[in-house]
Amino acid sequence: MSNSALPLIMGIESSCDETGVAFVRGCELLADEVASSVDEHARFGGVVPEVASRAHLEAMTPTVRRAAERAGVRLSDVDAIAVTAGPGLAGALLVGVSAAKAYALALDKPLYGVNHLVGHVAVDQLEHGPLPKPVVALLVSGGHTSLLLVRDLATDVRLLGETVDDAAGEAYDKVARLLSLPYPGGPPIDRAARDGDPRAIRFPRGKWGDGSYDFSFSGLKTAVARWVEDAEHAGRAVPVPDVAAAFQEAVADVLTRKAVDACREHGVRHLVISGGVAANSRLRRLAEQRCAAAGVEVRVPRPRLCTDNGAMIAALGAEVVAAGLPPSPLDLATDTSLPVGSVMAG
Ligand code: KG4
Ligand code: ZN
Repeated sequence: MSNSALPLIMGIESSCDETGVAFVRGCELLADEVASSVDEHARFGGVVPEVASRAHLEAMTPTVRRAAERAGVRLSDVDAIAVTAGPGLAGALLVGVSAAKAYALALDKPLYGVNHLVGHVAVDQLEHGPLPKPVVALLVSGGHTSLLLVRDLATDVRLLGETVDDAAGEAYDKVARLLSLPYPGGPPIDRAARDGDPRAIRFPRGKWGDGSYDFSFSGLKTAVARWVEDAEHAGRAVPVPDVAAAFQEAVADVLTRKAVDACREHGVRHLVISGGVAANSRLRRLAEQRCAAAGVEVRVPRPRLCTDNGAMIAALGAEVVAAGLPPSPLDLATDTSLPVGSVMAG
């Protein structure tokens, strides 16, 4: 079957601070446009929900238009519209879902309200082709840290564990602040760590060896804060590269250890890592080493696909359409805490 025989899916994402619109057919990405409000949040050190909602409102229609132009399609060619229904920020989700409903109604095409977290896994298909079944997925971003067992993207996603407090990216952002590095904190910590010694300080690994697949990063953040405070009180200069490297080592160590354990326990030979923190150089290297030792193949989408975008939602939309799942009703509600086991909302 040629690609043009596959349905054309428009994907809309607005769960946090990125307005994303993309077009896909099957595993082929035709266009992926993102308008980010990250700069507007930088001075607050985190996403301000009301600012994000307003930015989505302003960006939505122009982003749809740009994506259609890039893809070389007309909106009347669209076969189905997929939109993030949750989890995410209430007001932000509402903008995307309202826009998707309007397009579905105007174009007389089916609407699919899908799960943002599962979209982070599905997006890998646009880069590396169909995902093996089953696959373990490690989602690490500013908002989520979850380990999933995915037997089928459209119908069978199970939560193995998640963070009980801060998300991994949130920990990066908070530690960056402690070290007077800019927001978002992942990239500057990653860079600073290159010149540091990860063994210079031993920071705690939350929930290490507790037999669960859950994570905890708030103790680690507090440990870094204490260490920095002690150094300052003692009048010592804070060795930023060493603190960054040791912190990063603690995060990557516990994430990769639990991900590989999950693959072993469930007899899974493929791991996919996604979300903004998947761009982290130490996490990638350690995952590759540990997966190779365990006979597990690791897939990481390119950074642009790891962060929030419309492509992930369009990719998941293509899956649920191919699986023949029924569309969402036009009174589809957003769900700020949609559980990951619900691939579609409602
Ligand atoms: O997926 P994402 O763009 O947005 C959501 O949170 O959904 O992830 C953003 C997070 C931020 O916390 C940022 O600090 C982190 O990803 N991040 C990184 C790196 N690049 C981005 N964390 C560690 N190392 C990086 N290189
Ligand atoms: Zn996300």
